[in-house]
Amino acid sequence: MGKPIVILAIESSCDDTSAAVIVDGVLCSNVIASQKVHEEFGGVVPELASRAHQLNILPVVDTALKRAEVTKENISAIAFTRGPGLLGSLLVGTSFAKGLALALNVPIIDVNHLQGHVLAHFVEPSKELIAQTPSLQSVEIKHPSFPFLCLLVSGGNSQIVLVRSYNDMEIIGQTIDDAAGEAFDKCAKVLGLPYPGGPWIDKLAKLGDVSKYPFAKPNISGYNYSFSGLKTSFLYTLRDMLKEYGVETIDELAGHVPNLREDMCASLQATIIDILMKKLKKAAQDTGIRQVAVAGGVSANSALRQAFMDYGRKYHWEVYVPPFSFTTDNAAMVCQTGYFKYMDGDFCAIDEVPYAKTTI
Ligand code: KG4
Repeated sequence: MGKPIVILAIESSCDDTSAAVIVDGVLCSNVIASQKVHEEFGGVVPELASRAHQLNILPVVDTALKRAEVTKENISAIAFTRGPGLLGSLLVGTSFAKGLALALNVPIIDVNHLQGHVLAHFVEPSKELIAQTPSLQSVEIKHPSFPFLCLLVSGGNSQIVLVRSYNDMEIIGQTIDDAAGEAFDKCAKVLGLPYPGGPWIDKLAKLGDVSKYPFAKPNISGYNYSFSGLKTSFLYTLRDMLKEYGVETIDELAGHVPNLREDMCASLQATIIDILMKKLKKAAQDTGIRQVAVAGGVSANSALRQAFMDYGRKYHWEVYVPPFSFTTDNAAMVCQTGYFKYMDGDFCAIDEVPYAKTTI
C-alpha cells in the first residue's frame, strides 16, 4: 500500500477559524472556532476578526491534526481559502498555510471560498467523525452527480450556480444588491436581535404568521435576485407602525402589537424563501436539470430546507441539503476542494496572495 494522501485545510475568510483533515478522500476532522467578540457590535469587525484568527489558528490546526490522528510529517499538501473574504482574516490563514508548507516542504493549494461551499456536497465524513458529530447524523449524506444546480446563499452572496464538474461552474444568476443573509441580518438588527440575525429569525419565525405582513417582492429579470427593496419594505412597515402607535422603540411597539417580532420574522423569512425558490424553479425548468442543491450559511435555515423538500416532491427534483456543520464557514469544504485539486496536481505558487473579491 502507498503512502496515504493527507490534506490539511485552513479556512479564515471571515469570523470563523477552521481547520480540517482529509485522508485518502475521507474527512477525519473538522474543527471550527467561532468568534464571539463581534456580537456586541452587531456585525463582524474586520480588525478584531484578524486578531482572533491569530489567537485561534495554532490550537485549531493542532486539534484538527490530533483528532484525525495524523502528524505534521504525514501531510501531503495544505489547502487554504484564498478568497473572497476579509483581507486581514484571509492573510492570517494564507500566511500560516505558506509558513507550514515551507517548513514541511509540501505544496499549497488555493481554494475559492464559494467553490468550497458548492463542493461541501462531496465531503465524505469518516464513520468516527459521524459518530462524534450529531449534525452529521441528522441528514442523509449523498453526493450529486454532474450537472446540478446549486443555490448558494450566504452572508455575502446569493447565486444560482450551474455546476458542470467540480472545476467548471457558471453563475447563471446572482443578487444585484444585498445577499439573502444580509437581508436576514439587517432586518434582525432593526428588530433589536443579536448578530448574526439569521438563526434568530429562523427561531422566532416558527412562532409567527407568515402572511401577517405582506412585504414587497422584487421584479428582476432572468435568474438574478434583489433584496434591498424587501429590506426597505420591512423598515417602512415598522416605521409606519411606530408612528401609528405614537411610540419610539421596537420594545414599546411590541407592548402594543402582540406577537410583533414573531410575525415580522415569519413574514420576512417566507418572503425571502419565496424569492429564492421561484428563481431556482425557473432555472431548473429552463435548463431541464433536476438535481438541485443548496449551500452556504443561509442553507442552515429550517424553513428553506423544508422548502427544498417541498419543491423536490412537487417538481420531481433530486434535492441535496448539506449537514448543518457544512453550511456555515468550515474547513471541511475547503479540504474537499483541496483534495480534488491535489488529485489534478493543481497547486498554487508560494508568492500568490489572497483576494477580497471574486466570483467562482
Ligand atoms: O456562509 P456563511 O457562514 O458566511 C459567509 O460566507 O457569508 O453565512 C453567514 C450567513 C449570515 O448572514 C447568517 O445570518 C446566515 O448565514 N444564517 C442563517 C441561518 N444560519 C446562518 N440565515 C437564516 N437562517 C439560519 N438558520
